[in-house]
Amino acid sequence: MMGGEPQPMQFGPAGPLKGQAAVPGDKSISHRVLMLSAMAVGRSRIEGLSPGSDVHSTAAALRAMGARVDRRDGAWEVDGLGTGGLLQPRRALDMGNSGTSTRLLMGLIASHPVTATFVGDESLCRRPMDRVIAPLARLGADIVAGPGGRLPITLRGMAGAVGRDFRLTVASAQVKSALLLAGLNASGITRVIEPVPTRDHSERMLKAFGARIDVAIGEDGERLISLAGETALEPVHVKVPADPSSAAFLIVAALIVPGSEVRIERVGVNPMRTGLFEMLSAMGADLSFENAREMSAEPVADIVVRHAPLQGVDVPPRIVPAMIDEFPIFFIAAAFARGESRAHGLAELRVKESDRITAMARGLRAIGGRVEESDDGLVIGGSGGDPLPGGAVIASDLDHRIAMSFAVAGLHCRQPLTVDDMTPVQTSFPGFAAALRGFAAG
Ligand code: S3P
Repeated sequence: MMGGEPQPMQFGPAGPLKGQAAVPGDKSISHRVLMLSAMAVGRSRIEGLSPGSDVHSTAAALRAMGARVDRRDGAWEVDGLGTGGLLQPRRALDMGNSGTSTRLLMGLIASHPVTATFVGDESLCRRPMDRVIAPLARLGADIVAGPGGRLPITLRGMAGAVGRDFRLTVASAQVKSALLLAGLNASGITRVIEPVPTRDHSERMLKAFGARIDVAIGEDGERLISLAGETALEPVHVKVPADPSSAAFLIVAALIVPGSEVRIERVGVNPMRTGLFEMLSAMGADLSFENAREMSAEPVADIVVRHAPLQGVDVPPRIVPAMIDEFPIFFIAAAFARGESRAHGLAELRVKESDRITAMARGLRAIGGRVEESDDGLVIGGSGGDPLPGGAVIASDLDHRIAMSFAVAGLHCRQPLTVDDMTPVQTSFPGFAAALRGFAAG
């Protein structure tokens, strides 16, 4: 968990970004691999696990419930407990800043005879959990939450849960995954109906662990995901792709700073995560995807990005789930493009680690950008490639992606800007500031 003193940091005008960047393992995939490894029978070995503190929160919780999770020879090893094998934790589970750890673990625990209390930082305690509380209660879990369905939460799971059908009412991979994880130790079939497709890492990973899972597409495009519970999972040896959501910051940095050329290897290019790349390409970005291949049931590629003038764009609502975490950095790209960019249908951004619509509007205005905020989106007037004035202090509001977005913006401002606290970046991309500075130094 984070803590301690805030770490303000300045980001100012930079020369071209050049070279190769190391980007940490995918955070979403890392959480899932750890949880499924803990449910497998035998030892799993994981290379390239995300070093972020969010994933450590998941690992610590699994240890507290009996799984052995250790780092050995540069990789992680997990000795699984078998489906249904979680033990009663002796202390509250500290989720730090991590919504994914919280929601997915609530699902996993719901079908175990275990009582767990979830606590977290100030940002996590602001986030709505009713989206998982309601369906998990239908499965038989007894859940007591703070006011407004927020943390701290105590969840009493049950043995003998029976699989059910669930129709998602929020387009959320976290809710879908929580229900599938709960279904692992429920008898019969757990079926999740997903009207709007979201990232499918859980489905892919469950298959890799030998779960009996089937995905069908309904007539109206709904995804119907069926999981047979009480199946023994086999341990795996996996290599986690680099996180496209982390790579995104370096990619936009290279696009906006003239003369840049950057290469990032083994980046996850799951189509449910590549909305930003699609939008940047539509804006005229020079992005190439080389050596397309599969890694641990996920598509990956090496990405080469060169500075290019960007043109404003309208983001079609259909693409929103595939770039849900990338809007902060997309707004930065838009602020340096020619003409206006518009995005709406983004109400979910208000309940991420911060209210990302307001945080981005406020920060962009402070550095001289033109922004109009609505209930569920932003319209951004671009600078036409010119630097923005900069010079402001930006509040990161316990949100790693707000901190990293403005760090990138600072590279193309006339006056350096200050991000008031860079510690939230530890949740997903430790080493981010060094990577950015390393590049800028050539
Ligand atoms: C995630 C799903 C998304 C995303 C989050 C990670 C996941 O959240 O914003 O960073 O790993 O399943 P929602 O499911 O709430 O959209």
